[in-house]
Parts: sequence; C-alpha cells; structure tokens
Amino acid sequence: MRNILDYDSVELSPNGRDVIILDQSLLPNQEKFLHLTTAEQVFYAITLLKVRGAPAIGIAGAFGLAMCMNRFKAKNLQAFDKEFLRVKRYLYISRPTAVSLMVTLDRMERCYYETEEEAKDKSDFETMRLIRERLTAEARAIKLEDIQKCLAIAEAGFSLLKPGVGILTYCNAGHLAVSRYGTALSPIYYAQQKGYMPKVYSCETRPMLQGSRLTAYELSKAGIDVTLICDNMASDVMRRGKIDIVFFGCDRIAANGDVANKVGSSMLAVLAKHYGIPCYSIGPMNTIDFGTKTGNDIVIEERPAFEVTDMYFDKPVAPKGVKVYNPAFDVTPAELLTGIITEKGIVAPGDLARLKE
Ligand code: MRU
Repeated sequence: MRNILDYDSVELSPNGRDVIILDQSLLPNQEKFLHLTTAEQVFYAITLLKVRGAPAIGIAGAFGLAMCMNRFKAKNLQAFDKEFLRVKRYLYISRPTAVSLMVTLDRMERCYYETEEEAKDKSDFETMRLIRERLTAEARAIKLEDIQKCLAIAEAGFSLLKPGVGILTYCNAGHLAVSRYGTALSPIYYAQQKGYMPKVYSCETRPMLQGSRLTAYELSKAGIDVTLICDNMASDVMRRGKIDIVFFGCDRIAANGDVANKVGSSMLAVLAKHYGIPCYSIGPMNTIDFGTKTGNDIVIEERPAFEVTDMYFDKPVAPKGVKVYNPAFDVTPAELLTGIITEKGIVAPGDLARLKE
C-alpha cells in the first residue's frame, strides 16, 4: 500500500493549472489531496496550515503564482502585468516569518521581468505565452533545487550521528514540510537507510501539534523508531540520557545566527545547553536572511486564540474569553546553538558571514 512518503506534499499538475497539496491540517486522520485553482485558495491553504513548513510554503507560493498566470485570461500585456503583481503581493503576506516564501516569490518576479524584457519585440500574445512557460519552469526548478538541498543537508547532518543515536526534534521539518525528505528529519531518514536505527523523540508541539500529527506520523510510516512526548517532557528525557543531539528546523536565520523557528524551539536549546547536549538548527541557505541583523528584527506571526483554547479538543480547554498569547515562532539566540546545518555543510552560528562569501 502507498503512503504519504510516496507522494510530495506540494505539486504542480502536468498542465500547470492546479497546485496539488496534501492537506496537512487533516493529518494523521485523513490523507486528502486538494486541487487549488485560485490565488485565494493558495492563500488560505498557507494561512490555515494546510500546506506548511518554510520550504513547502515557498514552493506552494511559486506554484501558486505560475498556476494563476496559466489560468488568467488577459486582454493585453498590461492586464497580465497587473494581475501578476496583484497575486504576487497577495501571496507574499500570507505568512510573515518564513523567509522562503518571499525568496521564491521574488525569484518568480525576476523571472517574469527578465522574460518580458527578452520578448520586448514580440506580440503581447506571444510574450504572455513565453512568460507562462518560463514561470512554470522556474517554479518546477525551485522545487527540484529544494530536493537537492535536502539531500545535501541529509549527508551533512548524518556526519554528526552514530548508530543508535537518540535525537530530539520539534514541530515538523520533515518530508511534509519541504519538497522531499525534509531538513531536520532528512539526516534521520539517511541514518535509517544506513542501518543506524536512530531513536527519535518528537515533541508534540502545542498548539498545532505538528510534532505528533505530522512528525510522529511520517517517521512511523517510514519505519523509524519514534516516541512522542509532550513538550514539557523534554527536560526529563534529556536528564535521563536518552538524547544525544537536538535537531530542529528554521523559518528565518538572522545575519548574527539567531534562529526563528516554531515556538518552543528556544526552550529545547536552553535545556540542551544545560545538559551539555549539542543542538542544531537545520535549513536551506535561503533561510538565512542577511538583510535581517538579529533575531529581534524578525517579524513573528501571531495566530488566533482558538488554536490554544479549542483546536484539537472536543470541548474548550480554557475559560471563555481568557486572554491568550499565541506567537507561532520564537527566536533561539545564536549562542545557544552548537551549529547551523545547510546544504553547504555545518557552520557555527557566529560564522554565517563566511557562508555569504
Ligand atoms: O507553523 P509551521 O508548521 O509552518 O512551522 C514550521 C516550522 O517551524 C519548521 O520547523 C520550519 O518551517 C522548517 S520546515 C523544514
């Protein structure tokens, strides 16, 4: 029987007219694929976490932009330009913290204007045809490059592991969150392939439970030894010596090495430091935002109260109207991390400038 690892969580249909996503908000209970055919559907799929994880939303944004232009019937090039910018700006603000979304949409915009310039002597009709073709190819290239990066990350992360290693992870930075394999989870898949039999502890990750709904799900489907813990059990498993290394993802890395990732990641980094356990944040190079100086400059998305008080419960678990603070991400200060792993290898957080060069 096929399972989710045989599919990609984000895809563009062969004719470029549908963005196909696995609806992650329904996992682990239902594996349902959605065909998105409008900018609004892509926007809400991203904001409602039907597609989530920094690289996956970047790819979904690029596919969404290509899909919208493939479907848009324009009278002339001016109308086509206007629609392109409308969709790009709209998708750009669907989630503010993960930089991949902005990086891929900006790359699509460069592709758009370069093609338009190249076709300046052609008819409007021919220019629009060429732009559609190039945008579709660019979006597919973004996804293929992401797969290559995840493979390189897998090898770099694997170099830190030994047989039987105990790994603590947070949220979901796996196959579901990217093109394929994952970032923080890709070294784990690689280690399993090499016969290392890693033992993974996955924090459930309140309030949206990506650790239990998604990480525990995809790892157990892949036959990996995974144990689910509540977030407040992390210190206990570390103290008992069950954890050799901590791996989590990243949504945006500031130039000084501060890392924004799912809220609660910084808690693991603090604990890891206390227990002397190495702690790594893992993601592709395009997660490093050299334009953002420190973690304090990263915009942190705040999400609705009902995710904390109601979501995933039969009945509310808090008094009606109670004040709720629900930031989706937190910042781990660079000094708490042992290193950052990208497709270029492993660097100390303070050494990011070297990667830029
Ligand atoms: O709110 P989410 O589920 O999109 O948050 C995801 C994370 O924090 C991931 O760790 C990060 O995006 C990296 S995914 C490879």
